[in-house]
Amino acid sequence: MRDFLPEDRPLLILAPMQDITDLAFWRVLARYGGPDVYYTEYFRVHGDSRPEKYILRSIEENPGDKPIIAQMIGQDIPALQRTAQALQRHKIAGIDLNLGCPAPIVCRKEAGGGLLRNPEKIDTILREVRAAVHLQFTVKTRIGFDSPEEFPNLLDLFRRHPIDALTVHGRTVREMYKPVVHYDAIERAARLMACPVFANGDVRCVDSARRVVTETNARGLMIGRGAIRNPWLFTQIREAYETGEVRTQPRLPDLRLYIEELYQETRDPHLRDIAHVGKMKKYLGYIAPGIGPEDAFWKELRPVLNLRDLFAVCDRHLAAPEFFTGGNGNPLPSDLFHGREKVRVLPSAETLPSAKILPSAGP
Ligand SMILES: Cc1cc2nc3c(=O)[nH]c(=O)nc-3n(C[C@H](O)[C@H](O)[C@H](O)COP(=O)(O)O)c2cc1C
Repeated sequence: MRDFLPEDRPLLILAPMQDITDLAFWRVLARYGGPDVYYTEYFRVHGDSRPEKYILRSIEENPGDKPIIAQMIGQDIPALQRTAQALQRHKIAGIDLNLGCPAPIVCRKEAGGGLLRNPEKIDTILREVRAAVHLQFTVKTRIGFDSPEEFPNLLDLFRRHPIDALTVHGRTVREMYKPVVHYDAIERAARLMACPVFANGDVRCVDSARRVVTETNARGLMIGRGAIRNPWLFTQIREAYETGEVRTQPRLPDLRLYIEELYQETRDPHLRDIAHVGKMKKYLGYIAPGIGPEDAFWKELRPVLNLRDLFAVCDRHLAAPEFFTGGNGNPLPSDLFHGREKVRVLPSAETLPSAKILPSAGP
C-alpha cells in the first residue's frame, strides 16, 4: 500500500459497509471526488462459497478508476485461499481480511470480530492466506473482543506477518459503535507496525480528520458513516491539506441533490416503491439525524412509506440555502446495520411510478 500513500496528506479510504458501499454508492461518491482507495463490501467465505456476483460487479465497473481492495470474511483457510485466488483474477489491488465485524451471527462462527478471541487461529490464517496472495494483503481489525487490553498481544501477532497495511477500527467488538474510539491504540499500532496503519472510527469532518491524524500518526484515514452523511468529505479533507482552506461548502439544497442522486443510482425497474424506500432509508439513517431541531428531518422520514412522501419531507427540510455542516458537532448515528436500530420497512399498498415523481437528478 506504500505506493498509494500521498506525500503531504493521509491516504483517504472509503470503509467497506455491507449493503451501503455498493456499486451505486461508489458511482455517486466518485462524482463528489471520492476516496483514494475503495474497499468492497465483504465477500462471505466458507466451504461452498463463490464470490458474490454483485460485489464482483463493483470491481468490474469500478467507477472511480481508483484502486480497489476486495475484503473477505471467514475462517475456513482452504476456502479463504481459494477465494483469494479467484478474486485476484479480477481488477483489484489487493485482498483484505475482516477481523472486526461484530454481528453476533458472524462472531458465533468465529469469523470477523469473533476471530479476535482466537489469536492462534489468526496467526495460521495470516500465514496461509498471505502465501496465497500475490497482490497487497491487508487486515482490518478492531482492538480486541472484550477489552482494549487485548490489543498489544494482537499487535505482536500482526507484526510477525508481512502484511501491507493494517486498518485499526479503534473499538472492541463488544463496544460495537459506542461513542468511544481508542485513538491511543491506533497510535500504538502506527508506532509499532512496519506497514502503514490506517485509522478508522468516527472521522466525520475536516477537524476530526486532522485531529485523528495528529493524535495517531496514521498514514491513512478510513471513513465510513461520515462519508455517507457528507459525500464532500474526502474533497474537503484534500482541500484542507493541500491548500489550507476548505473551499467546498455545500448547502442544504446540495444535500437534497445528493439524496436524489442516490435515488437515481439505486433505481431498479424490478424494485417496488416500498423496497426502494427501504434502500433509501439505509442511506438516510446516516444522513438525516442531526438536521432540523431535535432530529426533525429523520423523525419525519422514518415513518414514510413511499417515494413521493420521502421526497416531500426532503423538500421541506432541505430547501433553505443554509450551509450543510456535515458531521460537525453531531455524533454519527449508531450502526443501523448491526441491529442496534432497525430501519422499518412496512408493506405499502401504494406503488408509484417513480419517474413521474421526480425530475432526473443529473450529476
Ligand atoms: C452499515 C455498515 C456496514 C458495515 N459493513 C462492514 C463490512 O462489510 N466490512 C467491514 O470491515 N466493516 C464494515 N463496517 C464497519 C465500517 O467499515 C467501519 O469500520 C465503522 O463504520 C467505523 O468507521 P466510521 O466511524 O467511519 O463509520 C460496517 C459499518 C456499517 C455502519
